Amino acid sequence: MTENIRINNPNVKYTDTHIEAQYCYHTTAVRRDGDTLTVTPSVSELEFHTERRVPRLGVMLVGWGGNNGTTVTAAVLANRLGLTWRTKTGEQKANYYGSLFQSSTVCLGPGPDGKEVNIPFRDLLPMVHPNDIVFDGWDISSMDLGSAMERAEVLDWSLQEKLRPHMSNLRPRASIYIPEFIAANQAGRADNVLKGTMAEQVKQIRADIQDFRHSSGVDKVIVLWTANTERFCDLTAGVNDTAKNLLAAIQSGGEVSPSTLFAVASILEGCAYINGSPQNTFVPGAIELAVERNVFIAGDDFKSGQTKIKSVLVDFLISAGIKPTSIVSYNHLGNNDGMNLSAPQQFRSKEISKSNVVDDMVNSNPILYRKGEKPDHCVVIKYVPYVGDSKRAMDEYTSEIMMGGTNTIAMHNTCEDSLLASPIILDLVLLTELCQRVCVRPQGSETFQSFHSVLAILSFMCKAPLVPPGAPLVNAYFRQRACIENIMRACLGLPPQNHMHLEHKLQRGFLPRHDNRIYDNVPTKMVLNTSYHASQQNGVCAHVVKEATIG
Ligand SMILES: NC(=O)c1ccc[n+]([C@@H]2O[C@H](COP(=O)([O-])OP(=O)(O)OC[C@H]3O[C@@H](n4cnc5c(N)ncnc54)[C@H](O)[C@@H]3O)[C@@H](O)[C@H]2O)c1
Repeated sequence: MTENIRINNPNVKYTDTHIEAQYCYHTTAVRRDGDTLTVTPSVSELEFHTERRVPRLGVMLVGWGGNNGTTVTAAVLANRLGLTWRTKTGEQKANYYGSLFQSSTVCLGPGPDGKEVNIPFRDLLPMVHPNDIVFDGWDISSMDLGSAMERAEVLDWSLQEKLRPHMSNLRPRASIYIPEFIAANQAGRADNVLKGTMAEQVKQIRADIQDFRHSSGVDKVIVLWTANTERFCDLTAGVNDTAKNLLAAIQSGGEVSPSTLFAVASILEGCAYINGSPQNTFVPGAIELAVERNVFIAGDDFKSGQTKIKSVLVDFLISAGIKPTSIVSYNHLGNNDGMNLSAPQQFRSKEISKSNVVDDMVNSNPILYRKGEKPDHCVVIKYVPYVGDSKRAMDEYTSEIMMGGTNTIAMHNTCEDSLLASPIILDLVLLTELCQRVCVRPQGSETFQSFHSVLAILSFMCKAPLVPPGAPLVNAYFRQRACIENIMRACLGLPPQNHMHLEHKLQRGFLPRHDNRIYDNVPTKMVLNTSYHASQQNGVCAHVVKEATIG
């Protein structure tokens, strides 16, 4: 199902190369004077240009031979080849469930019959299709991707058999391995590692990116870290606090993690870099380098399971006026990620990344929380080999309700970890690629500008979103989703999705219909129908009937 959409508005122009949209950005500024808040609305006129040509996209995964790396590669191959396979419950067909862009929809508005017209999210703007992505990557384990897929124990065996001839031809490039950054229990698989100084290894990674670009014929390359979680890197003045110091530390062999070395190599090659793990890859020097070079960076840590639910559930509770007071999350998993996280320093990275996810929601409600007050929040992760990639997450949310009452929600979530992370990996790279084709010119400015190098629009897919300095950090799920949808609508000159449906909430319609007549919201037949319950509704029933009858 693919939809072509065309905007019928003189403010939107389709040229051979671009969609050019004039857009009014409405916002407000709030000032406090004593106990009075003054709210001033403002409108900025912006011009969005979106390149229409979709490039051939190459994605290089760091940790290509891991569960996520093999699963996402296999899923794309299976979809591209249109594979079906037998399972014990019948025939299964390749799909992209779990992908925001491939498997969720957005509403364009009502059609002639008044019913909402929903289209695949991916059709709002020209986007790369995941089937067309060319993959490459690095791993400290030399295993080919066919065998690595088997090691991962994620996909059905009959699907693996169909994919093996394609996957076995793929072999990860040698990678940067600094043992002290990942758990000691990973040493056994490190048989594919680069030699030489830190600077030489970064040079090799840059050469790999260039080699992939030239040999595969892709137009652009995005690099994504889906390798093991590292320990946090010490932030040290003179080492990683500025771009210059970071580059110097690489030359002298200072405290720089492999994930940061990959980030630096990618940025120097002009390739966007996404961090799917929790560690602090983006030390201040790496962020400064990305900003200086105008290259996108994004992260941190895929928001796939427990945290995703948390960012929905806590948003629901707090926005409903209920006060979560304790959130306790237990996880156990048995894949290699779980084994790596069983080491204290690597677990600590994950714990930090998972712990701040409710902060924006808590801070938004001073009725429920005093300044500085937070719910108790505890995260436990245990390694249980038997459950493999099928992660168990058990959460208990205790909240205070009216008059000192307590509400406890307990949930058990069994999720196939890599099958949840893989569509997120695709969404991350596809949205990053789209953002590289969008530029904006505020009215009165001579020049167009791109999004900020710290690509905060990707927050939706990340547990611990990286945002530009001073920007609000949003974890709430539906606000993050609305942000993506509304920015994509802005590229088409469309107003934000406001869900008001005002035309259906007044007694008489006011919008012209497709046939240029005005909607009549209160047909006489409906008013007479006793199931309408008008008299109990708002006490203006008589008025409704009279108006409807006269109208
Ligand atoms: N739902 C999810 O799966 C999920 C969600 C959020 C975050 N993550 C993060 O994604 C990462 C990958 O998860 P996974 O389940 O695929 O783990 P995995 O252990 O199966 O795969 C990681 C791979 O990285 C490789 N590796 C380690 N250090 C490397 C280096 N320096 N260079 C290149 N390769 C290296 C390993 O050999 C391994 O093949 C983990 O950090 C995990 O915490 C996963």
